[in-house]
Amino acid sequence: MKIAVIGTGYVGLVSAACFAELGHEVYGVDIDEEKIKKCKKGESPIYEPGLQEILQEGLRNGRLSFTTDLTEVLPNVKIVFSAVATPPGEGYKADLKAVFTVAETVAKHADHDLVFVNKSTVPVGTGKECEDRINEVLKERGVNYQIPVVSNPEFLREGMAVSDTIMPDRVVVGVNHNEWAQNLMEDLYRPITRVGKPLVFMSRESSEIVKYASNSLLATKISFINMLTELTEKTGANIRDVARGVGLDTRIGPRFLHAGIGYGGSCFPKDVKALLATAEEHGISMDIVEATDKINARQRKRFFKQITDLLPANANVGILGLSFKPKTDDMRAAPSLDLIPELIEKGHNVKVFDPAAMKVAAPLLPTQVTFCKDALEAVKDADSVVVLTEWDEFRGIDLIQLKNDMRGNDLFDGRNIYEPEEVREAGLEYHGIGIR
Ligand SMILES: NC(=O)c1ccc[n+]([C@@H]2O[C@H](COP(=O)([O-])OP(=O)(O)OC[C@H]3O[C@@H](n4cnc5c(N)ncnc54)[C@H](O)[C@@H]3O)[C@@H](O)[C@H]2O)c1
Repeated sequence: MKIAVIGTGYVGLVSAACFAELGHEVYGVDIDEEKIKKCKKGESPIYEPGLQEILQEGLRNGRLSFTTDLTEVLPNVKIVFSAVATPPGEGYKADLKAVFTVAETVAKHADHDLVFVNKSTVPVGTGKECEDRINEVLKERGVNYQIPVVSNPEFLREGMAVSDTIMPDRVVVGVNHNEWAQNLMEDLYRPITRVGKPLVFMSRESSEIVKYASNSLLATKISFINMLTELTEKTGANIRDVARGVGLDTRIGPRFLHAGIGYGGSCFPKDVKALLATAEEHGISMDIVEATDKINARQRKRFFKQITDLLPANANVGILGLSFKPKTDDMRAAPSLDLIPELIEKGHNVKVFDPAAMKVAAPLLPTQVTFCKDALEAVKDADSVVVLTEWDEFRGIDLIQLKNDMRGNDLFDGRNIYEPEEVREAGLEYHGIGIR
């Protein structure tokens, strides 16, 4: 099927390349000329395992192409996906400017019936508003093309985005009384349903809520275990043992019970806050979600305070990991963006290393930061080393060499990736979260 994906960011580019990989003919569209230039050359503008390979394969077999001009591709397609960003706007409400711009642009230039699919994370009611705006434009043009709006939220995890898209747990599609649109979505996702993955249809409103509910529930699991770290620290219990004991209950499950510095990234913080903004708009309180957000902020502050309280004046600090999680260069709402400026402001010297995110991070961090070629260079002569991202290569670091290369002996493990005993045996002081 011929489709267009508007917005070739973390979600749009992965979706476009995966749909092409699954046999569809896909046009990726973005207003960012640099991004499109790179995509056309087969260079992924983001770091995402496996993406560059399928991007190049799509270009090679001709099923994937890119343009900055939507009008060029619109006459050819049956489905238009919108995967533009929906960042936090006023009062943390999702900023829908880009979504509405795309919907209205499609309506302005459409010359046949097509389905408009919102892949972006949007508050409940946005699909209806898009449809109203589209119909308004079509009316002004004096044409009566059918452009139903469908909701198809994205659940991919950065770092696993390609496999999550090709083999998702489920695909959720919200369609309101439109058999034609539903059939087209069924055809589009056939390569995925054929391997047994569920395609779940529901109303557009339910589908829009599913996305916020999923992210907020996952964030709640993280905040719940993080909440308990304060108690385990005070009582000498071990949060890893607690999480294991709790998570082995099949009703609960072990995932998202890993205590640490709290969630970051482009989705959880913004989606939790946006759900709260939606609740407020509807005069509803969501106490659990509110607590999730508060605990997350407190967890980060608590850890940072432990670090800064222990540092001598003008200390050397080695930071391992900048991105909000491993296997991505995404720096949105990454803890490093809060901690590093605070350390610099307090007069400390900061050396950093991240396997993928340094290029993206450089313009976002103070100019005094030193970027290093590897982890050992970042920890050289450090009074304290702080692990902010659980990249695999940090797990396997030689702790004895780390100790020998440092000036001090404090290791702050923001992701609880080390065994405290092993760290101590290497002559280091261990500072984990909810664990001694
Ligand atoms: N990043 C994730 O892990 C993830 C996961 C699930 C859902 N989402 C949701 O997906 C949406 C997109 O997120 P993202 O991380 O891919 O954002 P992104 O910022 O990486 O990408 C958005 C892209 O849209 C482009 N764009 C903006 N306005 C445009 C326009 N008018 N026409 C064409 N292109 C335009 C931008 O140039 C950019 O390349 C958001 O709603 C987000 O919440 C993201």
